[in-house]
Amino acid sequence: MNIAIIGTGHMASGLAKQFALAGHRVMLGSRHPAQASLPASTPSSVAVLAIPQALQSAEVVFLAVPFAAVGDVIQAAGPWDGKIVVDITNPLTPDFMELSRGFTTSAAEEIARLIPGARVVKAFNTVFAQVLDQGPDFGSERVSVFYAGDDESANQCIADLIASTGFKPVYAGGLKNARYLEPLAALTIQLAYALGHGTQIAPAFLERPSASS
Ligand SMILES: NC(=O)c1ccc[n+]([C@@H]2O[C@H](COP(=O)([O-])OP(=O)(O)OC[C@H]3O[C@@H](n4cnc5c(N)ncnc54)[C@H](OP(=O)(O)O)[C@@H]3O)[C@@H](O)[C@H]2O)c1
Repeated sequence: MNIAIIGTGHMASGLAKQFALAGHRVMLGSRHPAQASLPASTPSSVAVLAIPQALQSAEVVFLAVPFAAVGDVIQAAGPWDGKIVVDITNPLTPDFMELSRGFTTSAAEEIARLIPGARVVKAFNTVFAQVLDQGPDFGSERVSVFYAGDDESANQCIADLIASTGFKPVYAGGLKNARYLEPLAALTIQLAYALGHGTQIAPAFLERPSASS
């Protein structure tokens, strides 16, 4: 799959590493591609391009920028029609400890309204960059990646993409349920930083095999 990731920061480099290791073609989009500096562990196949070039041949575009920067990115690049856009953002307050959206809307729904031609899926927002970097295995468990979206084929595409990396895709319903995924990330941030568990943690979805019988 051809994947563009806008951003070259912690999440962008973690996603790029996992997707490239899974055999996908990954292009990072940056405002300053010549100055981008990626971790040494980034596979050499990962390219860094200007944002419009990164987008050009991508079927799936990840927005790995702060929520406040998404509007700029959408203005600066495109066309977005028909693309699957994955919103990984958490709409955090400047101190990173609270959400600035909730109850009646979410970052994902606001992004979908900004790019009506795109099929927006929320995913990866509950996974720390440090977890992405280390990979999907937590002992005998795999890290859950919750995804939510309104377009069935886009949801399936992202579920397959998540599974291709070894992470565990967990369907979380329509895009409106980003209203619950964003607070789940906020709880994870509290556990990591306010309650001292550090960033090698992740919320998991567990289901007994007999639960549906
Ligand atoms: N870090 C985590 O563990 C984590 C976990 C889940 C979700 N998230 C979400 O993932 C997103 C990225 O987080 P991060 O930790 O990777 O941040 P980061 O390391 O600070 O990287 C942010 C990236 O966004 C780019 N950027 C900022 N403003 C931009 C603009 N106006 N136009 C284009 N690019 C712009 C930056 O580019 P420059 O280098 O050119 O400034 C940088 O490459 C955030 O929305 C965050 O809430 C983060």
